[in-house]
Amino acid sequence: MKKSTTALILALALLCSSAIAGPGEDRQKSFKKVLLSFEPIGVMLRDGPFRQDQFIKHADALKAAAPVPFTLFKPNSIDDISRAKAEIWSQPAKFKAEQDKFLAAVNALQAGARSDDLAAVRIKYTAVTQSCKSCHDSFRGPKK
Ligand code: HEC
Repeated sequence: MKKSTTALILALALLCSSAIAGPGEDRQKSFKKVLLSFEPIGVMLRDGPFRQDQFIKHADALKAAAPVPFTLFKPNSIDDISRAKAEIWSQPAKFKAEQDKFLAAVNALQAGARSDDLAAVRIKYTAVTQSCKSCHDSFRGPKK
């Protein structure tokens, strides 16, 4: 009984310490959530099989997750693990334009998920991929 209480307290302490994550970790977790729905979409389009019900589920999840990371870019929040570049804050209009392009591309992909025109869906998927890359090239630095 006593042993399990100690274990419980230890587990709670661990939970609490991981809850006070820094801004870099928060953003990376949030982007990983974006990737979690984007990746299966890519696999389905590249390797198949194409299951429209699954595809719609992932595209809806992608649309919901996509704006979240951009709420986490507070000024002066480059910490030990963050890959964010200072240009995010020194070129805010350019960063915002990358964001807008990305969210528009995600919306188009999600709206197109219900269509049967796979060739068109592939083009929309490629536009999202290019948008991820374009922003990373300008605003994400190397892994720390
Ligand atoms: C408008 C800019 C922008 C767009 C668009 C964008 N990202 Fe990122 N992404 C970043 C920045 C900046 C970071 C670094 C955050 C940090 O470490 O503080 C990042 C981090 C990540 C990470 C965290 C892991 C790591 O090693 O950095 C993943 C995963 C990721 N992005 C995937 C994607 C995917 C997939 C897309 C497209 C579906 C995407 N991102 C679109 C700017 C963007």
